Amino acid sequence: MHLHHTKHHQAYIDNLNAALSLQEKALRSNDIASLISLQQQIKFHGGGHINHSLFWKNLAPVDTPETDPSSAAKNLYTAILTHWGSFKSFVAAFSATLLSIQGSGWGWLVVKDGGLGIVTTQDQDAVLSGTALIGVDMWEHAYYLQYQNNKRGYVDGIWRVINWKVAEERYLSSKL
Ligand SMILES: [Fe+2]
Repeated sequence: MHLHHTKHHQAYIDNLNAALSLQEKALRSNDIASLISLQQQIKFHGGGHINHSLFWKNLAPVDTPETDPSSAAKNLYTAILTHWGSFKSFVAAFSATLLSIQGSGWGWLVVKDGGLGIVTTQDQDAVLSGTALIGVDMWEHAYYLQYQNNKRGYVDGIWRVINWKVAEERYLSSKL
């Protein structure tokens, strides 16, 4: 996670800043071709920055009070039980979605139009519709150092470090 934060996330920030700087120059010189070619760079690296910023904050030290949804996220926990029937069913559905991602991407618990849902985004696409409550990085760089090819081990272990206190705050602010 340290390498992931200081190297991978930092690279998205550096590349986003470089692309934004080039965009500024292209805007000043009305260089339309450059503006168009920079769009994908900004989308990719900007998405990488947004997604990782959400990810770090929705993690907590392993097996701490924040990782217990029934006490750290009372409102969201109740909504999850209403939607999926049990917390176990929610975890099974979310985990299955994470493991179904082909290539690189993210899995998200979102609230949209007042209801909960599980969505995925490919590569570094950000959640642009609704509010992301929890995001799980499913790029190989997120798990390969610790879990090698055991993607399921990473997915099973992630629940011990999800920060439900932050998820609850995001859930409550989405309803304002
Ligand atoms: Fe990542």
